[in-house]
Amino acid sequence: MTLREALVVAERRLGAAGVETPRVDAELLLAHVAGTTRSGLYADLEREVDGGWEGLLARRERREPLAYVLGEWGFRRLVLKTDARALVPRPETEIVVERALALIADVDSPRVLDVGVGSGAIALALKDERADADVVGVDVSLDALALARENAQLLGLDVELREGGLEDAAEGWDLVVSNPPYVESLAGLQPELEHEPTAALVGAGYHESITAGARTAALVLEVGAGQAADVARVLAAAGYRDVTVTRDLAGVERVVEGVR
Ligand SMILES: C[S@@+](CC[C@H](N)C(=O)[O-])C[C@H]1O[C@@H](n2cnc3c(N)ncnc32)[C@H](O)[C@@H]1O
Repeated sequence: MTLREALVVAERRLGAAGVETPRVDAELLLAHVAGTTRSGLYADLEREVDGGWEGLLARRERREPLAYVLGEWGFRRLVLKTDARALVPRPETEIVVERALALIADVDSPRVLDVGVGSGAIALALKDERADADVVGVDVSLDALALARENAQLLGLDVELREGGLEDAAEGWDLVVSNPPYVESLAGLQPELEHEPTAALVGAGYHESITAGARTAALVLEVGAGQAADVARVLAAAGYRDVTVTRDLAGVERVVEGVR
């Protein structure tokens, strides 16, 4: 089968499976198999497609996240290894990194903690973009930590990754950053989320606990839709100044920050 024919088949099957963006997913999947980019695909549509693509298509048809099917995903300037051991890094989390970088811009060799490091996305992107930062990432999930360590090694980024939790924020930092579990329930949400670790997604009270326990000059938290105003009040009540909310590209209030 040619890439052109495979694209038609993949788009039709993904559309029938309810995937939101069947054409884009089909293109990314086939580009991955063909070892090219989405645009490169169109330069070579008559080429025979390598075996194995149908296995990947079947996984995506079962609504496994595309990042897990491909085994890698872009985040800021990095390509991270992605699998079911940790949450898929989201584009909105790139804004967490952007705000974190802004808050440590004038600090030499800042000491930074990422609570709930997952795949390593935030911690590794911060180290990549602030080479002088001393970055520590903690997680309660040993699976996530193993993936984060693989990513650190693959990318050659020197970040300390260790088992830990919210209590580590009390150590004293220039910046504490976290994208904690904040989804109330997976009911009614996309089936893709059921393939990700539930403990990485579902949770409540993390923003409050981190804010209450952190000893840090700056705090940056990712929040769920509709949570920003409450979390901003929590930061203000805890004595943070310049409490600011930043929207994501979809216009959702997504990141809350403060300094003290
Ligand atoms: C929403 S994911 C974020 C992963 C990654 N930082 C990112 O942004 O893609 C939340 C992470 O917090 C971890 N986690 C859950 N409870 C925790 C706790 N009490 N202490 C530390 N990490 C925790 C989960 O294992 C998961 O890896």
